[in-house]
Amino acid sequence: MANLEIEVRAEGSGFGAEIGAVDLAAEVPEEAFQAIRAAMIRHKVLVFRDQHLDDDSHLAFAQRFGPLEGHINRATRHDALPKIQIFGNVDQSGNPTGVHPERGTLVWHSDKSYVATPSMFTVLRSPSVARQGGNTLFADMERAYADLDEDRAQALGNLRVVHDWKRSREKSNERPATAEEIAAAPPVEHPLVRTHPETGAKALYLGNHASHIAGMDRAEGEALIAELERHGTQAKYIYCHRWRDNDVLMWDNRCTVHCVTTYDAAKERRIVHRAVVQGDRPF
Ligand code: OGA
Ligand code: MN
Repeated sequence: MANLEIEVRAEGSGFGAEIGAVDLAAEVPEEAFQAIRAAMIRHKVLVFRDQHLDDDSHLAFAQRFGPLEGHINRATRHDALPKIQIFGNVDQSGNPTGVHPERGTLVWHSDKSYVATPSMFTVLRSPSVARQGGNTLFADMERAYADLDEDRAQALGNLRVVHDWKRSREKSNERPATAEEIAAAPPVEHPLVRTHPETGAKALYLGNHASHIAGMDRAEGEALIAELERHGTQAKYIYCHRWRDNDVLMWDNRCTVHCVTTYDAAKERRIVHRAVVQGDRPF
């Protein structure tokens, strides 16, 4: 009989949890699925070990959480399955290229914060895992917000941040945005303090796509963003995922930021396949 119970293992702060006793390649029973969803909201980052997904079962699992979105960067789309994106440092013969495929992932960010309705959950698996480095780090932006003093939190609550794909590429030293991308992703504004639509908790909503503060002197706004990012990504707010073969990792972009740690892109092969669940307009 299909297992309706999942196992949730979380440590200390409860930020990040490992989920056991579930086979994501099989159809997960509704009750177990709802328990996974509840764990997702509670722990913000979930890890599933020893999973054997292919792109089809990866998509099937991810889309139970809601409609999936494509990516603005067409180069990373899977040829036949446009809702799967592939980031890898491997050429057609399977050799490391020496180049990490998307430098924007090496700096703290929240997925797609440069669009009006940014990503909700990202579901990632890694068919090829780096042996050294290439960890995925997460920072809990709800705890970072909760630790601000009250007056400051209140003042920040009035600010809006401009997020911009073009600027984000410049900041992370990636190839410049194309004219087509700029037309598809013009700058958008989001609140600096975001309310989680399911829990009501407030979080700092920042990351590399954040360009400046609306209505504030540009340099001053950039400095404020950088300062809050330093605050929010202190070690005490971080969960580090060290990849093993056959892991599936998923996270809630509405209350976290993440990045990849460096690895030797000329020697290691690191490939991730991702499917991303569409979110709502931040408020
Ligand atoms: C992503 C991302 C992190 C990783 O897929 O959105 O940032 O570890 N990837 O590759
Ligand atoms: Mn990302």
